[in-house]
Amino acid sequence: QTRVLTGITTSGTPHLGNYVGAIRPAIGASRRADVDAFFFLADYHALIKCGDAARVERSRLEIAATWLAAGLDPARVTFYRQSDIPEIPELTWFLTCVTAKGLLNRAHAYKAAVDRNNETGEDPDAGVTAGLYMYPVLMAADILAFDAHKVPVGRDQIQHIEMARDIGQRFSHLYGQDFFVLPEVAIEEDVATLPGLDGRKMSKSYDNTIPLFEGGAKGLREAIMRIVTDSRAPGEPKDPDSSALYTIFRAFADDAESAAYRQALVDGIGWGEAKQRLFERIEAELAPMRERYDALIAKPAAIEEILRAGAAKARAVATPKLATIREAIGLRAMG
Ligand code: TYM
Repeated sequence: QTRVLTGITTSGTPHLGNYVGAIRPAIGASRRADVDAFFFLADYHALIKCGDAARVERSRLEIAATWLAAGLDPARVTFYRQSDIPEIPELTWFLTCVTAKGLLNRAHAYKAAVDRNNETGEDPDAGVTAGLYMYPVLMAADILAFDAHKVPVGRDQIQHIEMARDIGQRFSHLYGQDFFVLPEVAIEEDVATLPGLDGRKMSKSYDNTIPLFEGGAKGLREAIMRIVTDSRAPGEPKDPDSSALYTIFRAFADDAESAAYRQALVDGIGWGEAKQRLFERIEAELAPMRERYDALIAKPAAIEEILRAGAAKARAVATPKLATIREAIGLRAMG
């Protein structure tokens, strides 16, 4: 059995990048007979970037409904909310005590914040919380507490998985015992970094996302029409390789469809027409899910029930794991 684990931060509306980078491959993996899947809502991570309680609550509901609409089967998958698992913050502290500060200095998210401050002449740590700094340790605990083998994520998370391995290894080395499975990233090369409206990585922080379901088919079409293109007129050949439209299209199409789309661009199809075709391709995949999503989001109590049951399943793994660790590091007498 391979344990596959992944999470999404509950600080915004799920977007196409989350779907192709994490949700779709994770659901695919969860259907395999040899996979034991753990998918969760990273609501402790949400607090790092978002102090808006209503937004965190809304985002949790949207992300949970998205997972379920995309085909997550709660009978097969352990589906839970991070903050329902007290073993996660406990393990975070244990790992914190062995994590080199220098390792965290190198984390991309922290470094990016410091670089921005340096550029504007601010104090390097202005606006940087200890939460942002500790982000990789919390994420290591998410993964190590469940002995995950594979973590399906987009490219932006690779460093975090590598850090989880480092931190887990360091902990085991210090206490002279192999406590954890060391996780590996599972990446789908083609969709590892989906571009957003402006061609940069689609990201909540860049405000360039295309929401999956929010706004309905109309909202999806409007967002796609806003994707930035160059000024080539209809009839002029377009360069597929520098076009976000083509990259996004490929994430939703098979090879033959992608080749036809590519050819249409080279043949000089207008950008408006190219966007319409992209919309139709994505809509064909999302429309049936959107119906399920709309039904689910109207029933928050049913979602709560699923998450509560999932937390019990998750804790059945994490509670004995943490009991072993507590003993091994001298906090409890050896049983
Ligand atoms: P988050 O919430 O930023 O993103 C969730 C998942 O979506 C992927 N993703 C993308 N993939 C391709 N192209 C994009 N433009 C794009 N944007 C986002 C992300 O790579 C991610 O897989 N720290 C994590 C959540 C987390 C986690 C974990 C993940 C917490 N603990 C343990 C795995 C294991 C995060 O903030 O992802």
